[in-house]
Amino acid sequence: MGVASCVYDPRPMTCDPAEPVARALRAAIAAECGIDPANADPRVQPAANPAFGDLQANFAMALAKQCGRNPRDLAQAVIARLGDDLSDRCEPLQVAGPGFINITLRPAALGAALQAFDAPNLGIEPPADTHTCAVDLCGVNVAKQMHVGHLRATIIGDTIARTYERLGWRVFRQNHLGDWGLPIAMTLASLRRRGTDLATLTLDDLNAAYRSAQAEGRDDEAGLAAVHACGCGPHRLAELEAQHEGASAAIADAKSTLVRLQSGDASLVRDWERIIEVTMREVYAAADLLNVRLDPASEKGESSFRDELAPVVESFERAGLATIDQGALVVRYPERERPMLIRKSDGAFLYATTDLAALRHRIQGLGAERVIYCVDARQRDHFKDVFDAVRMIGWTRLTRRRDGHDVEVECQLVHVPFGTVLGADKKPLKTRSGENFTLKALLDEAIDRGVREVTARAADPASPTHGMSADELHAIGQAVGIAAVKYADLGGEVSRDYVFDLDRMVAFEGDTGPYLQYAHARIASMLAKAGDAAAWTDAPIDPAAPEEKALGFAILRYPAAVRSAADHCAPSTICAYLYALANAFNAFYQACPVLKCDDARVRASRLRLAHLTRRTLADGLSLLGISAPSRM
Ligand code: ARG
Repeated sequence: MGVASCVYDPRPMTCDPAEPVARALRAAIAAECGIDPANADPRVQPAANPAFGDLQANFAMALAKQCGRNPRDLAQAVIARLGDDLSDRCEPLQVAGPGFINITLRPAALGAALQAFDAPNLGIEPPADTHTCAVDLCGVNVAKQMHVGHLRATIIGDTIARTYERLGWRVFRQNHLGDWGLPIAMTLASLRRRGTDLATLTLDDLNAAYRSAQAEGRDDEAGLAAVHACGCGPHRLAELEAQHEGASAAIADAKSTLVRLQSGDASLVRDWERIIEVTMREVYAAADLLNVRLDPASEKGESSFRDELAPVVESFERAGLATIDQGALVVRYPERERPMLIRKSDGAFLYATTDLAALRHRIQGLGAERVIYCVDARQRDHFKDVFDAVRMIGWTRLTRRRDGHDVEVECQLVHVPFGTVLGADKKPLKTRSGENFTLKALLDEAIDRGVREVTARAADPASPTHGMSADELHAIGQAVGIAAVKYADLGGEVSRDYVFDLDRMVAFEGDTGPYLQYAHARIASMLAKAGDAAAWTDAPIDPAAPEEKALGFAILRYPAAVRSAADHCAPSTICAYLYALANAFNAFYQACPVLKCDDARVRASRLRLAHLTRRTLADGLSLLGISAPSRM
């Protein structure tokens, strides 16, 4: 999954104390072994056991094998090469076991790093040059209810977009609406047959119209079974459905409606626009509730590429990459049997053709050097085909300005294939009547649970929320319910299926969204009781206790976690980071008195550390689009 490798980036990550250590070791390894620094990864990571230090470097075992040396000797030789390079930051480096290097930072170095981190950007510097990416998200099909799958495409996409934005990239969110194919024509035709009044149209009407159109169109069981057997995926299926000999009158009606719509029939176009409006109103309402940034500027549906389909196909023909196969036009690949259909025998274009046009626009038009698709795993083959075709034709090459020079870069194409949301029965989540859960129903239930949880807690006189109005409690409960759903969706590896279990998701304990919000709110409550902030906002940070040091390291790993989440398109990296940070804070809070500490210097240092934790938690949660209330 994801971007294959994380490119070695020579820019220092501000504030991370592991960074200068790794840099010095890299140079020493390169010199000792006579290799390129880019290949001299010192493999610095947090110490497995804090008793032996703060960090460890694990390069020696593998590298010694490559150069036929003894790992402990190699580690020692690299340390000797360092000379005094790290002596102001670290205690003398120690070789241990088969050749690990244990590294203990001097407390002053950690304190200084934390003070430098305590700036508005929290250690994340924007890149010197412009970096651009496009994120394909949401992708709802007009005239159909947004369902749980679109929930994932929307929140995973939004989180990835926010992560790149946070790193200073220019991000184009692209909502590839299904607004131009046969399904919408089926709905249009069915609405007309039913004589529905479009002025008062609701999404439920649309849904009903689409469902009945589907039922009417389903007449050729054998033909459909054949298409299923090819494993062509939902889109090709829908498209091929239309090609059947013996298609029903309803399909014929839908096909002729599609042709009239596509050739600009004014009254059909008006109805079509109305359907889009009704659908999108609901989508934006859900996006608002989910705290997802989605707006009409990101709407770039299938219909917007309609005039580019013929030219795209011609480009493939001209490049000698498309061949006629039984009247249809296909792209073939050197190493696989499955071709990609880009024009049907009746001259119609396909889902894949539209994606080729959209991808060309994203790279050549928007200038994206990374295009990220948050689309469910069942479309894996589809994107493999589209990406390879675009690479074969050479549309992925673009020129970028880097360090004052124009360089040729290859656009990276990434599909983030996500898994299915399952019910308690481990089958795709359905309502009791067997229908797909609408997004609205699901969020309403989560919010209801959040409000109940928060209201119950507010009954405790010791709770900071005690005595709040019902409206205030509702607002917090809504934030909790949404956090529960989003965090559960983002916290696991995205490609995995997961069970939708509200009980677990809204719990205030464990690896949940509400737990992180609660950790944040507890720190905020403590800081509110700490009196005049001027006494500690600029105080020297002096992490002395082991739990204090551990918290300091956890905070400083934030920029690396954000960068890694972006590089690997893995929101779960941010979730895991925040969970570890909240746990490090709790361990610190148990071991180290803060408000009750009598030593004014230590108290101020701890308050500043707590404040930094609060800000880092809030910043990380904002990447997930999860709000951080200050009282819970
Ligand atoms: N409308 C599609 C669906 O519901 C998702 C669109 C994904 N994006 C894309 N560029 N094909 O399955």
